[in-house]
Amino acid sequence: KKILLLNGPNLNRLGKREPSIYGHETLEDVINSVETLLEGSGISLIAKQSNHEGMLIDWIHEANDGYMGIIFNPGAYTHTSIAIRDAISSIDVPVIEVHISNVHAREPFRHHSMLAPVCKGQIVGLGIEGYILAATYLLNNRN
Ligand code: DQA
Repeated sequence: KKILLLNGPNLNRLGKREPSIYGHETLEDVINSVETLLEGSGISLIAKQSNHEGMLIDWIHEANDGYMGIIFNPGAYTHTSIAIRDAISSIDVPVIEVHISNVHAREPFRHHSMLAPVCKGQIVGLGIEGYILAATYLLNNRN
């Protein structure tokens, strides 16, 4: 079984990008810590990042085969993308929405998620630990 760790726009710049908001750890660090959590579980991690909406949609569709869950930080597409919402609705695999920052404590345009209603759940504002918590959930609730 596999978990897809999916990151959207600008998250390739994690660690360099607005570190006062997103911290100094990189996407590589995130991937490594989720991999460490999954060690010995028999579940493998596939990590993908794209700045392109259509690419993310293709990967969501593909994950419907052979994946037990998707950990997804959709970046700013969270707040805008009906197309990504429809992609999530189209698959049977649970998607956990993760945001590093507390979007509710930021600009009003970040308060609304187009995706949350079609996700299994949402983890917000707990830094990169949110990814680990999402992976822990998938690990504990596998079937
Ligand atoms: C983010 C929050 C979004 O509002 C923002 O556009 C991002 C990152 C987060 O992880 O806190 O790119 O998803």
